[in-house]
Amino acid sequence: MSRLRKITRRQAVLLAAAALLGAAIGGSALTGHIGVALAVLAVVMVALTAGLILVLHRLATLGREARRSQREQRAVLDQTQRRLLGAVEQMLLLAGDRHRELTELLANSQKLTANGTDRLLRAQTGEVEALIQMFQGFSPRAPMPTSGGFALNPTDLLALLHIIHTRRPKLVLELGSGTSTVWIAYALEKAGGKLISLDHDAAYAEKTRIALAAHGLTAVAEVRDAPLCPVVLDGRTFPWYDTEAVADLNEVDLLLIDGPPEKTGKDARYPAMRVLEDRLADTATVVFDDAHRQDEAEALRRWVEMIEGLTQEGEALGRHAVLSYRRVVRQFTPSN
Ligand SMILES: C[S@@+](CC[C@H](N)C(=O)[O-])C[C@H]1O[C@@H](n2cnc3c(N)ncnc32)[C@H](O)[C@@H]1O
Repeated sequence: MSRLRKITRRQAVLLAAAALLGAAIGGSALTGHIGVALAVLAVVMVALTAGLILVLHRLATLGREARRSQREQRAVLDQTQRRLLGAVEQMLLLAGDRHRELTELLANSQKLTANGTDRLLRAQTGEVEALIQMFQGFSPRAPMPTSGGFALNPTDLLALLHIIHTRRPKLVLELGSGTSTVWIAYALEKAGGKLISLDHDAAYAEKTRIALAAHGLTAVAEVRDAPLCPVVLDGRTFPWYDTEAVADLNEVDLLLIDGPPEKTGKDARYPAMRVLEDRLADTATVVFDDAHRQDEAEALRRWVEMIEGLTQEGEALGRHAVLSYRRVVRQFTPSN
């Protein structure tokens, strides 16, 4: 019954017509009207055949539509599959390239690390050898402050001590105090000579004074406070040591330029030779630390270009460069 309730109106009409026709045929046959019964039966047969043809036609149309939709779905599926395969292939190619690049990068960085470690080890050996030679030359009376980092490296210090040993400067001026001040003071104690060291930072100056006192070197070396003041050169202003701190100095025959630190400004050490040339002896040596750095290399190039009698001695060794200064005295020729 519940199924019957679900039939459409059209189906109900057909069902009613079939029942009516069935009743008409049955009634005609039972009442002896065979001809009428046959005629109604013929109409029913024609209607059934027409209905069958209609259903078959509908089924054929549906079959065609189903096949067409199947073909379309297959085409879409093929296209999607091809796209997917293309994307996977491209991803694999890219992954392959990336893998190759990374492998090369890794191999290169491994080579660089190995080279870097090798170079570091060789540099360390050099620094240790320099330290051994330094301590063989002197017997410090107190623990020595550490070298390297902000302070000169042992290899640079050793070269500096050798210059003092061989050239015997009478007055050394150092820009930037620290560990080097103590080593220079020991060397001058032996060779005979005095050291004046400038520091822009009062705390570091005091630290170096304490170290000099601990080593009993205050008679040889003096640390002076020289805060940074504006110095004008070639139309530019540089923060540089207060020149009052060197006002009494003449005949400096060894100048060590190791300050101010680079963080105090661009071309921080450029003023040194321009300001101090007049304070140098007629023949002097200049040791310039960190000469490999861009600002310092440029300062060195400009000094040699601008200052007559200033020449670089060979190539820079370690981090420092050595320069010779010989004052050029111009003969005064009165004009007629
Ligand atoms: C290159 S350092 C001078 C080092 C010194 N000539 C030596 O070899 O020991 C220049 C200036 O940097 C400052 N300085 C020293 N050690 C420092 C540190 N560890 N950190 C920051 N500034 C430092 C001091 O004022 C010093 O005068």
